[in-house]
Amino acid sequence: MSLRIRLNILITTLLVILFLFSSYYTISHARNSVHSEVESSTQLALQLIQAASSSSLSERDKIASDEQKHVKFIRKLTELDMIRHVHIEIRSPTELLNPADDDILFIKSDAPKWFIQLIQPPATEIRRWLYTPVTSPIDVLIKPDPLDEIHESWIETRNILVFLSIFIILANILIYFVIGIYLSPIERILEGLASIRQGNYKLRLPNFRLPELDRISQQFNHMTQVLSETKVRNQLLTKRSLEIQEEERQNLSQELHDELGQTITAIKAVAVSISNKTTIEKRYINSSVRTIVKYSDHIYQVAKNMMHRLRPSVLDEFGLVKALQNMIDEWNDNQENIFCDFTFEDIPSYLSDSLRISLYRITQEGLTNTLKYSKASKVNVKIRKVVDDGVEKINLKIEDNGIGMDKDGVKPGFGILGMRERVEMNEGEFAIDSAPEAGVKINILVPLSK
Ligand SMILES: Nc1ncnc2c1ncn2[C@@H]1O[C@H](COP(=O)(O)OP(=O)(O)O)[C@@H](O)[C@H]1O
Ligand SMILES: [Mg+2]
Repeated sequence: MSLRIRLNILITTLLVILFLFSSYYTISHARNSVHSEVESSTQLALQLIQAASSSSLSERDKIASDEQKHVKFIRKLTELDMIRHVHIEIRSPTELLNPADDDILFIKSDAPKWFIQLIQPPATEIRRWLYTPVTSPIDVLIKPDPLDEIHESWIETRNILVFLSIFIILANILIYFVIGIYLSPIERILEGLASIRQGNYKLRLPNFRLPELDRISQQFNHMTQVLSETKVRNQLLTKRSLEIQEEERQNLSQELHDELGQTITAIKAVAVSISNKTTIEKRYINSSVRTIVKYSDHIYQVAKNMMHRLRPSVLDEFGLVKALQNMIDEWNDNQENIFCDFTFEDIPSYLSDSLRISLYRITQEGLTNTLKYSKASKVNVKIRKVVDDGVEKINLKIEDNGIGMDKDGVKPGFGILGMRERVEMNEGEFAIDSAPEAGVKINILVPLSK
């Protein structure tokens, strides 16, 4: 069931509960007011009967005959029938003195039966016998007649209930449409997510009026931007790594051709010239052998260099620290104006293959960059084991004292990008910090075991 329908059902339920409570309150209020109206009318009737009897029959009215007094009294009593909510019957022992006129007494009400039953007060009739010195006893019967009050209450209650019903219907319609308008961005968000699933990271969501949905939209846009940037970066890296592979193959084939091919051809030429001689002088043999040995040494050196460039064997044989030490020693031997200081601490002998080669290549790239760009006189390479958040990690720092770089102005090339990729591949953290004239500081933290 959709969120819109659910919200509507919830709000309708609340409004219906409100409706029921209001009905209960209105009806019980109507019942109380009918009760008290009838009660006070009955009391009023009683008091007026009392007053009528004492004023009509008072001894002070000497002029009037008993007969006149009696007629005056009966007239006053019949006038009392005008009191609302009560019906008064007056009888002398023999006859009904005020015959009831049903049409006047009982107002026809269109209140439904259930309503009348709900609020009708219990029927309590009051009977009084009036004994007067001038007439025979008079029987006064006061019957409560709440029907006209009930009728008024019904009109009032009905109006309230009709008003409430209209309010509930209108509120429901309004809420249905308003919720619809507010929730319509959700469709857009779902479309956006579906397009991400299909690999389209270009779609951006607009701003929404509802702050929560607007925040989702902003986060969504940020996410798609990061995804599309990562996609572009990956494409560039893949392209670059294929290019590097091709360049490396080309270099190898060139070197094989120039260095090994030519040297082997020279050895072959010496050997052929020896075999072509019928008599060979010892001196000639010695010179030829020296040439062959020299060429063989050269081949060995070239092959060793090529193998080292492809994969430094010391890395596998003696571990990362030894390999770094060798590389840095060699690097220092070849530089005059810059010195690299290498320190290590607590590096375990076993590191995963991926971690070893990654840290080696990162240091290599760091030193190459320092040499190429920094104009530094000193570079520190520091590698040690640390415990971060209870996890053992390798911390590698490469820091030079060169001209540094303006991080915002410099476009990172594939060197720095490659370092970052290698660190992320090992689930580590890569940070590069620099400012103009402040040198470059690279700080890497990679967990020992993935
Ligand atoms: N140690 C450094 N000192 C000063 N600038 C540096 C240093 N290392 C890198 N840079 C700057 O960062 C840029 C990107 O370096 P890098 O990603 O290795 O790419 P590349 O070496 O292929 O140019 C360089 O062109 C250089 O301007
Ligand atoms: Mg570089």
